[in-house]
Amino acid sequence: MDKFLIRGGKALRGKIAISGAKNSALPCLAAALLTPETVILHNVPYVKDLITQRRLLEDLGATVLTPELRTHKITASNIEIFEAPYELVKTMRASVLALGPLLARFGQAKVSLPGGCAIGTRPIDLHLKAFEKLGAVVSLEAGNVVARAPEGGLVGAEIYFEKVTVTGTENVMMAAVLAKGKTKIFNAAREPEIEDLAELLNKMGARIKGAGTETIEIEGVEGLNGAEHTIIPDRIETGTFIIAAAITNGEIEITGCRPDHLHAVIEKLRSAGVEIEELNQSTLLVKCSKNGLVAKDVTTEPHPLFPTDMQAQYMALMTQAEGVSIINETIFENRFMHASELIRMGANIQISGNKAIVRGKTNLAGAPVQASDLRASASLVLAGLCASGETLIDRVYHIDRGYENIVKKLSSVGAKIERITDSVATTA
Ligand code: UD1
Repeated sequence: MDKFLIRGGKALRGKIAISGAKNSALPCLAAALLTPETVILHNVPYVKDLITQRRLLEDLGATVLTPELRTHKITASNIEIFEAPYELVKTMRASVLALGPLLARFGQAKVSLPGGCAIGTRPIDLHLKAFEKLGAVVSLEAGNVVARAPEGGLVGAEIYFEKVTVTGTENVMMAAVLAKGKTKIFNAAREPEIEDLAELLNKMGARIKGAGTETIEIEGVEGLNGAEHTIIPDRIETGTFIIAAAITNGEIEITGCRPDHLHAVIEKLRSAGVEIEELNQSTLLVKCSKNGLVAKDVTTEPHPLFPTDMQAQYMALMTQAEGVSIINETIFENRFMHASELIRMGANIQISGNKAIVRGKTNLAGAPVQASDLRASASLVLAGLCASGETLIDRVYHIDRGYENIVKKLSSVGAKIERITDSVATTA
């Protein structure tokens, strides 16, 4: 398994360009299953999860061409298989996003039930209940979710999500675009990725209103056409690099981003002493205040509040802030695995239920550590960048899932970071 070796303590300086949003590209690729015509997506990040999603589409029978590295031309005219197998779902839960489109267009879908993952149990019960509301019959057969639309297809309905779910909202939106009549989704997720998906679907001929608010209305249509769409910039990658500048006491210009997609993160970081200047609508200039960082509590919540996907990186930053900060994780029940690794590097963190109490400022010292999930790995990279000595991060396949070229991007602003390829493990 590949590792990252980081020699920390260097202030990062320069420019970093943001890639397309993984969490937007994943459902947009799945949306291409809704039409036999070609869907062209630009700014698809070159990360492992997107390679997996592409493989899923190809396994189902779609043709995916990449005329340029980050452009995908998807034609799903010959779909003969309606199943996402366990081998794919176990490596990437977002494969469940195939359910909605397959059910809507072909009236049937089978997706292996995702198990728990490192950050929690992560059920998909709310997706399934919503499909049932649209008239589907859903059963569990040998570890697979099997969903069938009624004769004549799905029928629009009123769906109230008892908990805000991002992929659940996306799945239902994709199922409802081809249903008969009107669907209303209440308590919908409001993430920018939902709006991006709705924009693509509307370009394909869908009639969706209200995406980005908590009530989404969808008027079903007979069929969808091809479309061309550019994926929004990744707000979590942006937030991670803001913290990279602040934690190393450096100065980074972050280009090609959407500051309006991360208000809560920017506001929280400013309150903790990070200087963030919006040079224009897509460029941020970030540096640490001369007075240093101050501890600020944070609670993760659905968009537009502070995202759970920035919690681990924020914890790394708080180890460098003066005072005590309480980090309250309300979205996933087991998302503090990075804490024990940060403690091994010298951080003072106490976990109590879904709260982490960080006492700073502590001097971090490099150590061998293990990445446990995607965002936890980012937090260890950030800690390694400000630690003295060498940090060796194992299991970086987690970070490869969602950060495009992170070694190259960080090296370009002066970080001492290299990938160590374990050829024995890689070929095994
Ligand atoms: C998406 C993001 C992930 C992010 C998360 C929360 C993608 C591909 N992934 O994941 O990066 O961390 O949103 O912002 O976009 N839940 C249920 N039943 C369900 C569905 C969800 O109980 O059927 C619970 C989950 O266990 C969790 C909460 O609802 O506690 C939110 O999960 P959800 O928004 O669905 O996360 P994902 O869509 O899986």
